[in-house]
Amino acid sequence: MRIQKAVFPVGGLGTRFLPATKAIPKEMLPVVDKPLIQYAVEEAYAAGIREMIFITGRHKRAIGDHFDAAFELEYELERGNKTELLKLVHDIKPEDMDCVFIRQPRPLGLGHAVLCAERVVGNEPFAVLLADDLMLGARQNAGGPTVLQQMVEAYRSHPGTVLAVQDVPKEETGRYGVVDVHGAHAEIAEVFAMVEKPKPAVAPSTLAVAGRYILTPGVFESIRRQPRGAGGEIQLTDGIAALIGEEKVYAFRYDGKRYDCGSKEGFLQATIDLALANPALSAAVRAHMQAALAA
Ligand code: G1P
Repeated sequence: MRIQKAVFPVGGLGTRFLPATKAIPKEMLPVVDKPLIQYAVEEAYAAGIREMIFITGRHKRAIGDHFDAAFELEYELERGNKTELLKLVHDIKPEDMDCVFIRQPRPLGLGHAVLCAERVVGNEPFAVLLADDLMLGARQNAGGPTVLQQMVEAYRSHPGTVLAVQDVPKEETGRYGVVDVHGAHAEIAEVFAMVEKPKPAVAPSTLAVAGRYILTPGVFESIRRQPRGAGGEIQLTDGIAALIGEEKVYAFRYDGKRYDCGSKEGFLQATIDLALANPALSAAVRAHMQAALAA
C-alpha cells in the first residue's frame, strides 16, 4: 500500500528554546530562511505524500498561516512584479497538497498526538515526521533521496513499521527510543525490542530512533492499550513496542544526517551546514567563520 499521509506532531511547548518560543511555535524557527516545519513538509512531499496532518495546540496558529494563502503579501508581490518571491511563497503549499489541522487538547505525549490523527489517517499506513529533527539525505543536495524517500523505498520491500535509526554514543541513550535488532549492522533489520529513553546501563543497544516513522494503522489500538510511560506521557515508543510479535517492525539505517534542532547545539550545526551549502551564502559565511575562529 502507498504511503499517502503524513502526521506532524507540532503541539509541544518548545521550552528548550525560550524565550524565542514564548509567542512563536518552535517549528516556525528558521534554519537559514525556512522554518523547520517547512523542511519536514517538503521531505514528505518529495516522498510522494500529499496529505499533511498537523497535530497542533494553542499558540500554534502561525503554522496554519504559513501553509495558507497570504492575500496582502501575494497582492503586493504581484503588483511589484516580484515573480521569484511570489513563486517562493506559492511553493510553500503546492496545489496538489492538502493540509489538515487537528488540535491536541492537552500535551499528553507523542503517542497521544499520533492517536489524535486516527480518524483522518483511517485504515492505511502513514508517516510521522518530528519537525525538530531536521534530516538531510546524504546526496539530497545533488538530487538524491530524502530520508523519508529512502524509508518509503524500504517499506516497499519490507511492509510493516519502519523506524529511522542511527548509532548514538552510549551516554546519550536516555534521549531516544532505543531498539534491539536481529543483525545490528544490516541496513534493514527486524526489531525485537524497543524502549523509550533508557539509561545507558540498561539500554538494549545504542541504535536510536530518529524522528521519522512509517507506521501501520495497527499502532492506534496498540497506543490506546498502553499505560502512561516515560515522563508520565503516552509514548509512541510503547505503542510500537507492543506491536512487535503481532506485526513486523523494522529498523532502517538511513543514509544521511540528523540535526537535533530541539537543542541549541543541533540548531546551530544545522544553520552553519545549510548556510555553507547555500551558494549565495557560503563564501561569506566561510570567511566570517575563519575570521571569528582566528580572533
Ligand atoms: C521523541 C521520541 C523518541 C525519539 C526522538 C527522536 O523524543 O519519543 O523515541 O528517539 O523523538 O528525536 P523527544 O525528542 O520528543 O523527547
